[in-house]
Amino acid sequence: MDFLGFEKILYHPEKLEKLRQDEPQFPVHMTISLGNFCNHACLWCTVYAVQQEQVRHMDYDKLIKFLSRAQERGLRAVGYVGNGEPTAYPKFRELTKAVNAMGLEQGMFTNGHLLDRYMDEVLNYFTYIRISLDAGSMKVHNAMHDVKGHFPKIIGNLDALIKKRDNGYSPTIGVQYATHHLNLHDLYNSARIVSEIGVDYFSVKPVFNWGGGANPDRIERNTLTYESLTPEVNRARADFENQNFKIMYRPHQVESVSEDRNVLEYDRCVAGLFNLNLYENGKLTCCSPHRVEVGTYEDDPQNLEKTILETTKGLDLSKCPPSCRYHPLNHLVDTVVNPERARQFHHNFL
Ligand SMILES: C[S@@+](CC[C@H](N)C(=O)[O-])C[C@H]1O[C@@H](n2cnc3c(N)ncnc32)[C@H](O)[C@@H]1O
Repeated sequence: MDFLGFEKILYHPEKLEKLRQDEPQFPVHMTISLGNFCNHACLWCTVYAVQQEQVRHMDYDKLIKFLSRAQERGLRAVGYVGNGEPTAYPKFRELTKAVNAMGLEQGMFTNGHLLDRYMDEVLNYFTYIRISLDAGSMKVHNAMHDVKGHFPKIIGNLDALIKKRDNGYSPTIGVQYATHHLNLHDLYNSARIVSEIGVDYFSVKPVFNWGGGANPDRIERNTLTYESLTPEVNRARADFENQNFKIMYRPHQVESVSEDRNVLEYDRCVAGLFNLNLYENGKLTCCSPHRVEVGTYEDDPQNLEKTILETTKGLDLSKCPPSCRYHPLNHLVDTVVNPERARQFHHNFL
């Protein structure tokens, strides 16, 4: 089982059944943007413009209230991912403790610079954390994240976290490498450093050109191709991959970026039935690239479920960004709920 893949849908057969029956359901997972402040300014960041607006933080009390009602309807996990840096949220400690007490699983994407403040919270309450590193040296990190000298502290934080993780496996600690032709040469070194520290996985993905990504004022358009990236990934795999360290790489993402279109087939986006996105202004979307709003955190979760179901039926798939992370989920679900499509995958165990 690949924890970054969507085979995990097998753990939720009732969700597929509801989908088949066209019944409303509350998503299992919700991403939460705790604020728009970030202490890094990655050149390709799709939300850089939002970060330039006045600093906003999530309303703590409203969030807690919404989470407890959502949990009753079927929410099982939250991921702190969004417009800013989650560890810069002023009530991060209080929040993660309260969410843990509700029985919800937690995860986050972080740049890792402030992690030393929250070692105990991460170790005690989180299922995964993923550090957006994107470099194998201070020089490249400074340039890509537009910071001054954060790289050694981030590596030190990762090292300390892994040394303190006494059960050896939980939370899962990963590193992501968003790859642009300008940092491709540092990928191998990055994989080497983090494999030596003992992180669990290194995920390689392309920098997307959509949204604010590769904003021409800040960085040139990413010209990375499958042919240029794959040999670097294979070199790192050959030298560093082992039973405890995996390098995750999805060639279809790179192909989609270079072809500028989704390369996986499906008729309907069902991502909103599995994942909801909450922003610091209280708005909820069932599709983050399109920012398709379905309500706010003050709405009744049961009504939200109906809105989500109807909204997912009306999305214009021709406008989807090539590398939306949900293309594989939609493709997989499509092959399951669409009998004609299932046949081409020899679904009867042939
Ligand atoms: C916007 S950041 C916010 C969370 C946190 N501050 C962090 O650094 O992970 C979330 C993730 O989006 C990724 N990201 C932002 N813009 C991107 C782009 N144009 N292409 C690929 N990944 C991008 C970042 O690399 C990061 O892993």
